[in-house]
Amino acid sequence: MKVVKLLLATNNAKKVEEIRKLLPSGFELLTLKDVGFSDEIPETTNTIVGNSRQKARFVYDKTGINCLSDDSGLEIIALNGRPGVDSAHYAGLPPDNSKNIDRVLLEMNDISDRTARFVTIMTLILNGNEYQFEGEIYGAITVNLFGSNGFGYDPIFIPEGHAKTFAEMEAVDKNQISHRAKALQKLKEFFSDMS
Ligand code: IMP
Repeated sequence: MKVVKLLLATNNAKKVEEIRKLLPSGFELLTLKDVGFSDEIPETTNTIVGNSRQKARFVYDKTGINCLSDDSGLEIIALNGRPGVDSAHYAGLPPDNSKNIDRVLLEMNDISDRTARFVTIMTLILNGNEYQFEGEIYGAITVNLFGSNGFGYDPIFIPEGHAKTFAEMEAVDKNQISHRAKALQKLKEFFSDMS
């Protein structure tokens, strides 16, 4: 496979780190910093699919470089899918992970159905054409925080079939099963089908 050069349309350093580990060879990944891009990227739609597309399109239109965005979130069944598209700023602005987690745990107090899923929609803009790849993983919300690896809601999410939260797992283990890993697997298949 020829090397694929992609600009990652995200300012989230943790996402960049995970994506880098998941796409190690065959892809040359550029960050916004690498290309001197510092505009604020809009996220103003009310869906994860819409925001993913909006971010990739905005960066592509400004740079002309093939790019990849990641919009993701935590959807809790008993909370009708919240925090969902509001995951990054569930407790208000500026975004604060620890306050977001506190809000989720408070809202989940006394709720016995702890089922949730992480979902990510990645949008690839390649030569102006748009493609989306989805990844999801089901699991359960804990009653307390466990672990300090990862980011976001990782300390309160135990993936189905496992006994540890994402934040208690090593990156290499989260990266085998995560929503992000699944979406990127589809992206890799997309490129290998093309070659
Ligand atoms: P956005 O995609 O930048 O709108 O933000 C997604 C938010 O969802 C992040 O700020 C995290 O709070 C949460 N999130 C997305 N993926 C993960 C993950 O892999 N672990 C924990 N939290 C995540």
